[in-house]
Amino acid sequence: GDALRALLLSRIHDVPDYPKPGVMFKDITPLLADPVAFGALTEALAALCRTHRADKVVGLEARGFILAAPVAVSAGVGFVPVRKAGKLPGATLRQTYDLEYGTAEIEIHSDAVRPGERVLVIDDVLATGGTAEASLHLLRRAGAEVVGVAVLLELGFLGGRQRLQASLGDTPLEALTAV
Ligand code: PRP
Ligand code: MG
Repeated sequence: GDALRALLLSRIHDVPDYPKPGVMFKDITPLLADPVAFGALTEALAALCRTHRADKVVGLEARGFILAAPVAVSAGVGFVPVRKAGKLPGATLRQTYDLEYGTAEIEIHSDAVRPGERVLVIDDVLATGGTAEASLHLLRRAGAEVVGVAVLLELGFLGGRQRLQASLGDTPLEALTAV
């Protein structure tokens, strides 16, 4: 509710001109350092897991890992990492996506999800939506049924939600806070 949103927002700090001039960086480390706020975030995301009957939680490297791992433990489901390319030892599926300059690649183990397995995707921030969009495509190629994408913070002015509309279809995008 409103109290949770206020608590979470109070622990996300604005850092102007990082990593470059004109960019307002959203620093979640104060939230992670506060056990009450981190605990409340974890429980809110674990509740989404239960609501959407997720079989697994997927975390997006790197900051998504920090949020998603305790959610998986709390919800009693497995954790699956989506990694930046070149870090996973087994057979993988790879997805390329566009950045402001150049491209990026993410990977998942080919056998990380069973066909039709229900997964909840978790990341810290939805900005342009490029990371989430690539993850949706990757997970579906891996055979998953994505039952939701959950983020701590949505940066509404960057239009990520609109960008994701076609890829999401009926899949809910849950933002615990938004600016
Ligand atoms: C940041 C953030 C999200 C993504 C959002 O990750 O953690 O994953 O950008 O941006 P987008 O919606 O425009 O794709 P980043 O790749 O900077 O690195 P990190 O999580 O490894 O720190
Ligand atoms: Mg990230």
